[in-house]
Amino acid sequence: MIQMSNGCIWHISVVLPLLNELKSASKIYNKITIGQQEKELKFNKEEDFSFQSEICVKNLYFNYEEKEIFKDVSFKIEKGKKYLLKGASGAGKSTLIKLLSMVYEDYEGEITADGVDYRNIKESSLNENISFIYQDVFLFEDTIFNNIALFKPFSEEEVLEASKKAGLEELLNKKENGLSEMLMENGKNLSGGERQRISIARAIVKKSKILFVDEGTSSLDEKLGRKVENTILDIDSTVIAISHRYYEGITVKYDYVLEVKNGTINQYSAEEYFEEEAI
Ligand SMILES: Nc1ncnc2c1ncn2[C@@H]1O[C@H](COP(=O)(O)OP(=O)(O)OP(=O)(O)O)[C@@H](O)[C@H]1O
Ligand SMILES: [Mg+2]
Repeated sequence: MIQMSNGCIWHISVVLPLLNELKSASKIYNKITIGQQEKELKFNKEEDFSFQSEICVKNLYFNYEEKEIFKDVSFKIEKGKKYLLKGASGAGKSTLIKLLSMVYEDYEGEITADGVDYRNIKESSLNENISFIYQDVFLFEDTIFNNIALFKPFSEEEVLEASKKAGLEELLNKKENGLSEMLMENGKNLSGGERQRISIARAIVKKSKILFVDEGTSSLDEKLGRKVENTILDIDSTVIAISHRYYEGITVKYDYVLEVKNGTINQYSAEEYFEEEAI
């Protein structure tokens, strides 16, 4: 029995669980607050994004609330190589792109770029160095030039060169005003392939170190899909792409396949992966 100062007598079996509850609540409180303070102290978010050599993912764990997506995942992204992400729907491919592009930071484990922890890198610095190609390209009612340069101070020559590399030459020749041609809202006066190519030109002119492609060619027909994927694989950037299609003679241009499966990632050389697929 425990006698409280107000004279009330409590049985130990009532008090102990309460004490335990208090203890665990304070543990959780400390974990949240101290963890937060430590994080703030440990991660300064002031470093520039450098990617001269590799991005290294080490013992990565990530979940959406109770849903576990990655469990103890480790792999490397080497500069300049082309990676194809494969895996069933819902396996975590888009989530992996979000982790590598700093959309989510509430993971366990470590992601480093040339040895610098992602959580120390300025988000703006990363954003300056990456580009995305999604199914829905965002285009606005303005000239082709501005849709590619996105109001950064690129010269006409630079934008033209990027457009050519992205395979837009034919379109520019067709349009009376070339790069000054106005696009309709959301690029309604362009084909699906042309819209994708504008987003590729954006990545090229920006000299993005990494190009993330999430199903970039799935809205295109076979012929255009082949062309766009071929263009993506010919540019100098490191490419991390999700594609469900297999294009004979093009898919093998990837260097590696990262297979996302059951919370893990298996890495194969593209050659090895597609040889086995063919069997
Ligand atoms: N914001 C979110 N909140 C909760 N669950 C999510 C969220 N985003 C994705 N998920 C779930 O996480 C799992 C992985 O999703 P993800 O989008 O990464 O899969 P995916 O491999 O890209 O699939 P798909 O090939 O269909 O695009 C799925 O089960 C999905 O429902
Ligand atoms: Mg996806």
